[in-house]
Amino acid sequence: MSEKFVLAYSGGLDTSVLIKYLQEKCNAQVITVTVDVGQGEDLKAAEEKAQKLGVIKHFSIDAKEEFAKEYVFPAIKANALYEGKYPISTSLSRPLIAKKMVEIAAKEGATGLVHGCTGRGNDQVRFDITLSSLAPDKKVLAPIRDWGLTREEEIAYAQTKGIPISEDAKKYSIDASIWGRAIECGLLEDANQEPPEDAYDWTVSPQKAPDKPELITITFEAGVPVKVNGKKMAPLLLIKEVNSIAGKHGVGRIDHIEDRLVGIKSREVYECPAATVILEAHKDLEKMVMTRHEVLFKQQIDAQWVFLAYAGLWVDPLKDDLDAFINCSQEKVSGEVKLKLYKGGLQVIGRSSPMSLYDKNLANYNIKTTFDQSSSKGFIELWGMQTRIYNTLKKASKKP
Ligand code: ARG
Repeated sequence: MSEKFVLAYSGGLDTSVLIKYLQEKCNAQVITVTVDVGQGEDLKAAEEKAQKLGVIKHFSIDAKEEFAKEYVFPAIKANALYEGKYPISTSLSRPLIAKKMVEIAAKEGATGLVHGCTGRGNDQVRFDITLSSLAPDKKVLAPIRDWGLTREEEIAYAQTKGIPISEDAKKYSIDASIWGRAIECGLLEDANQEPPEDAYDWTVSPQKAPDKPELITITFEAGVPVKVNGKKMAPLLLIKEVNSIAGKHGVGRIDHIEDRLVGIKSREVYECPAATVILEAHKDLEKMVMTRHEVLFKQQIDAQWVFLAYAGLWVDPLKDDLDAFINCSQEKVSGEVKLKLYKGGLQVIGRSSPMSLYDKNLANYNIKTTFDQSSSKGFIELWGMQTRIYNTLKKASKKP
């Protein structure tokens, strides 16, 4: 009996070639699935292409709302920025796509799960680990990587099989989700060259942004954004709204050198307007409502969380453990943060919260505050005790 494979299908060259390869080389029946996480591709066109290439079934799944709620929102609570810069907009979508593939494979009685990643990137790690963890009884195949197909071979093969190759030999390789857009290849591979303007699509050039600043207010409840400028919005809509407001001001462009899991350093260019604004606002609000002990400790938890999510370990139990801590820490992260957007720049200019630990009466410069300055003297005495003792000894030991 022939095998039945579920293939994560984007409609692009790699995964289109895979449909034919799997049918021919593995004598397999192919079921394709395209998961919409906000990549903005034409889902209908992908479906038609798959059908034309002879798949036995195709699934188009709109997972945008689930992605926003179950993947992006946890990332906001964790202030997730890989290497301090990248809001993991691609990384977050992979475990969701894998989960959908596994669900379909179970329903359709498939024997294998296939993705089109190469052996150079992070996505292969995310797919392989998530798929094999969620479906240990099924084969996981990465033919582009494991059969060593080059792009030239793929194109030649596509031509013999009548697979359409898009004419506008694409300048860049793009991967997007509602949380951001990653732009790779072409001119961007020169790490010392500024990305050309046409690499960007969600953000205007800061030079061309409006000459007047715009204020935006984000309201958080229990660590997640619920309102923009006072208007309540569902997660997906809220992210879209912030993407458009911030993009208009050229906010959210990111250009950095990133360490991939396989050791490669890569120059990565992203535009993540909503992520840039919401993460900045969330971090600021946390500092207002958390004790300093919490703030410092959570930084370590956040760093571990974003690493796991980036590194393909979304389904590792450590992530659940960290989520438990993070969720508990977020109960009080409610309030409002005001930010100013202006020509590519972003600044928090105000914040308020019913759980604020900031007390104007304590912090002011007026001599008559509720803060009892006489306690400071004794505090400093003890706080610096060991430091003083050490320095006294050091000085004494240096004497001739
Ligand atoms: N470097 C980023 C990551 O690993 C983005 C990669 C996006 N590109 C892609 N073809 N998947 O998450």
